[in-house]
Amino acid sequence: MILKMNLGPNSYDIVIKKGAYNKMNEEIKAVYDKQKIYIITDSNVGPLYLDKIKNELHDFKVYSVCVEAGEQSKSFETYKEVLTKLLDLEIKRGELLIALGGGVIGDLTGFVASSIYRGNPYIQIPTSLLAQMDSSIGGKTGIDFYGRKNIIGAFKQPLKVIIDPNALETLPKVEFNNGMGELIKHGCIGNRKLLDMLLNSDVKITEEIIYESLCVKKNIVEIDPFDLNERMFLNFGHTFGHIVELDGHLRHGEAVANGMLMAIQMGIDLGLTNPSCYDTLKKILLKYDLPIKNYDYKEIIKNTVYDKKNIAGEVSFILISDFGAVFAKKISESELLNYECKN
Ligand SMILES: NC(=O)c1ccc[n+]([C@@H]2O[C@H](COP(=O)([O-])OP(=O)(O)OC[C@H]3O[C@@H](n4cnc5c(N)ncnc54)[C@H](O)[C@@H]3O)[C@@H](O)[C@H]2O)c1
Repeated sequence: MILKMNLGPNSYDIVIKKGAYNKMNEEIKAVYDKQKIYIITDSNVGPLYLDKIKNELHDFKVYSVCVEAGEQSKSFETYKEVLTKLLDLEIKRGELLIALGGGVIGDLTGFVASSIYRGNPYIQIPTSLLAQMDSSIGGKTGIDFYGRKNIIGAFKQPLKVIIDPNALETLPKVEFNNGMGELIKHGCIGNRKLLDMLLNSDVKITEEIIYESLCVKKNIVEIDPFDLNERMFLNFGHTFGHIVELDGHLRHGEAVANGMLMAIQMGIDLGLTNPSCYDTLKKILLKYDLPIKNYDYKEIIKNTVYDKKNIAGEVSFILISDFGAVFAKKISESELLNYECKN
């Protein structure tokens, strides 16, 4: 399946195909006419897929840089390490980088690509569920700094995204859950069909499920490529999710899953959300084995005043009136500190 991201001169194809790694040479030749390629990967993904992909790229001269797996590699130290290795390998202006890995490798490689020679092309080969259904498209790249996530970065769209769902077979369960929370979020904010597919299919990620999930992000990115407005809808479940993530027991996607239930409960209490959404969402989350903790949003709502989306004393809550119908409701800091539900 091919999905096209329409962004004028920065448009690109997103190829979603089981076995896509076997056709890597053709996929890359279709968009890149130089000889050298530099693959950035991590210490978990590299041993699993690097040799296979290098062997497939028989028309190119392929170099690789492997960094430690994990969020700590989205750092200035690793950014410097990657740049140093690339320059030692004598990378030239216009030569292609490939991000082979999860969202960490995608964000780091994209940022390196955006800054080396003021911008070399890069291709995303996402291997985690989160990267396949979300982070590999949209062009947000960056690293963490000074204790703050994604605080340094750039918008840099890839030349192509190549997704092989077969790579998910080696993904640990906890990483699968992490992506699943965000995938279900895409269904809630923009694609009722995706939720029906999740409810009615086996617990298996198909090309169609990834396609439907990516459609939601693609539609939003095309309207708001620089994250100035509609892209905030992708934060559904994140305002409450970030708070429960802080106690360290839940991965990000699991916290978002709980955050979505809280946002729906809040919307129901305010008379803004169709009450049936709560049970349907809970059923899907349980089917995919996401840990549901039954948090009461009223007990933690005061903490949302510290959310990074608190702008000039107002927090934007992303709510849905029904599946596929998302909106923002602003609530002032003073209302939040004395929050009482109106029902
Ligand atoms: N740019 C964006 O739009 C965007 C959107 C959402 C999240 N993100 C970023 O994405 C990052 C999280 O991404 P992630 O969850 O993929 O984390 P990750 O890249 O750390 O990958 C998770 C773990 O799974 C391993 N892994 C990945 N694919 C594997 C496979 N096929 N088999 C075995 N192991 C595999 C990795 O080595 C790592 O240990 C965060 O830094 C977040 O900020 C970016």
